[in-house]
Amino acid sequence: QELQLNLEQIEKGGYEHFMLKEIHEQPTAIKDTYRGRMLADEGLIRMAGVDDNLERIANAKRILIVACGTSWHAGLVAEYVFEELARIPVEVEYASEFRYRNPIISEKDVIIAISQSGETADTMAAIKLAKEKGAFAFGVCNVVGSSISRETHAGAYTHAGPEIGVASTKAFTTQITVLTLMALKLAKQNGTISHTEFMTYLQEMERIPSKIEKALEGDEHIKMIADIYKDARNCLYLGRGFNFPVALEGALKLKEISYIHAEGYPAAEMKHGPIALIDEEMPVVVIATKRGHYEKVVSNIQEIKSRNGKIIAIVTEGDEEVRDLADHVIEVPETLEPLTPLLTTIPLQLLSYHIAVLLGKNVDQPRNLAKSVTVE
Ligand code: G6P
Repeated sequence: QELQLNLEQIEKGGYEHFMLKEIHEQPTAIKDTYRGRMLADEGLIRMAGVDDNLERIANAKRILIVACGTSWHAGLVAEYVFEELARIPVEVEYASEFRYRNPIISEKDVIIAISQSGETADTMAAIKLAKEKGAFAFGVCNVVGSSISRETHAGAYTHAGPEIGVASTKAFTTQITVLTLMALKLAKQNGTISHTEFMTYLQEMERIPSKIEKALEGDEHIKMIADIYKDARNCLYLGRGFNFPVALEGALKLKEISYIHAEGYPAAEMKHGPIALIDEEMPVVVIATKRGHYEKVVSNIQEIKSRNGKIIAIVTEGDEEVRDLADHVIEVPETLEPLTPLLTTIPLQLLSYHIAVLLGKNVDQPRNLAKSVTVE
């Protein structure tokens, strides 16, 4: 048994939990995701699964994304990125709903399944259904040789390395990385972004790992905030645009490992319901990075403040305006708007992690959850 314990400590590489290790692995994991695929100097993106089927994918009438859990959130980010850059219509659906609702699928559709494990039963069934109707199936999986990676016509692995913590972290950011590369490639193919813009994206993507390192430096400060709010019963997460799915993911992370009830909302939807919940006991995490509806988010923050809600804001480095309004600010470096989810996700992962640890929860193996769900 002692040997077993030591082995586990070695596997955790000096970190207290796999989740923390995996959070910190993100700069390397993302580099591994784009290494060999993105040649920033030459202005090239090479992805075999896309290259070999370029016409089919670039001419898709529609891209359907199916996934579950955190992977579904990555799909929502991808929807915004694909539509913004490549101008291809995208629909994102829970695999479990898709498979049972007699969806309209044509041969001109491309279906993308996103799955860390590549074994999720509902996602697998959704892919089979779409294939039967003639769609082209593309897999974004982490586990090499997994069932979904075998069932799809083509795909791109995330290369995040093994993810042990049940709550997904590095799988999420590497899924977003792969899908962003794919969107950029299709955008270039279809001429929906200029060469200059394309080059700017590649260069900025190369800076993302070091910007994540920077975001990770906020760890101690985030731990302090976690200590203040660890006894909250409810928590709201708000974001807009590219960061709306990040708000959903932030809330999911908190629910999964700390068992605190949390909900994510598009910031503007707050006034259609959740605002009724806001009082001095309610922490509200708001993603308020510069660009992307910044002024609108600031006015959402003012609405929360006037109801005495506690505001934890994720802001762009150097932000002054939100600092004056919020109870706490957590800074992330500036980047191009479609890439912000790769940075804003980091503090939300750390916040949930610290809250769960402070509450004494089993972070790596939360109750009732499984790493991969191979049953319906
Ligand atoms: C489970 C895991 C989640 C994961 C989801 C989808 O619920 O606990 O972390 O996001 O399954 O898994 P997949 O392997 O398909 O990405």
